[in-house]
Amino acid sequence: MTVSLPDSIEGCLSLLRRGDYVGDRSLATTLFLALKMGRPLFLEGEVGVGKTEIAKVLAQVLDRSMVRLQCYEGLDVASAVYEWNYQRQMIEIRLAEAQGVTNRDGLGHDIFSERFLIKRPLLRALESDKRGPQVLLIDELDRSDEPFEAYLLELLGDFQVTIPELGTVRANEPPIVIITSNRTREIHDALKRRCFYFWLDYPEAAREREILAIKAPGVGERLSAQVVAFVHELREADLFKRPGI
Ligand SMILES: Nc1ncnc2c1ncn2[C@@H]1O[C@H](COP(=O)(O)OP(=O)(O)OP(=O)(O)O)[C@@H](O)[C@H]1O
Ligand SMILES: [Mg+2]
Repeated sequence: MTVSLPDSIEGCLSLLRRGDYVGDRSLATTLFLALKMGRPLFLEGEVGVGKTEIAKVLAQVLDRSMVRLQCYEGLDVASAVYEWNYQRQMIEIRLAEAQGVTNRDGLGHDIFSERFLIKRPLLRALESDKRGPQVLLIDELDRSDEPFEAYLLELLGDFQVTIPELGTVRANEPPIVIITSNRTREIHDALKRRCFYFWLDYPEAAREREILAIKAPGVGERLSAQVVAFVHELREADLFKRPGI
């Protein structure tokens, strides 16, 4: 049975809570709008502030499968969307030759069928799942190159992929898309316009103590306050990398 999406901002807040995620009302509002309107949620922020975790929590609490695409420099369609299995196609051709198959059209049709297709995360995310639309996490988009970003723009517009030899694959229901970025480079406005955007900042001390209480329940209040105060001081210091949560 499909777990339904929250129907209010409070519903989103409690959904995050059920996944042990401490979020504030502004995050819950943006999440609610993204889920309600079926648009991607674009999360930008410092390292270790809980961007990736939101996708994991959504998949867990809504009981959906999660498809994760980790971005990196040089990421291309073959690694992100689909690729033909050339080795298997070659074996199929050799076998057909050995069996004396002469129908070239039939063979061509055969080797470009789904059996020889390697589905990568973005294509898999468009497939129907009995538990409902999947959660698609496109993690650290700022690491990918601009041409890939342009490709994504098209995909996120109508949730379909065209495979020239096979046709167009369209999602019956759009997946729940979470995009994250550490802002090592600026993501194009055209992509941001298709999403609901939220900047995740370091939490205030009280919120960070709440997170600590959930993640490390055995820690006493005094120690928790000291740890949080120390980490907050470190974040003020002139460090190459500031500590996350
Ligand atoms: N608001 C929160 N509530 C509960 N746990 C949190 C929260 N924010 C962060 N965490 C915890 O902090 C850790 C780091 O979070 P996460 O990996 O999501 O950060 P990130 O923003 O994706 O970092 P990076 O930029 O390095 O990928 C996780 O273990 C997560 O459980
Ligand atoms: Mg992350």
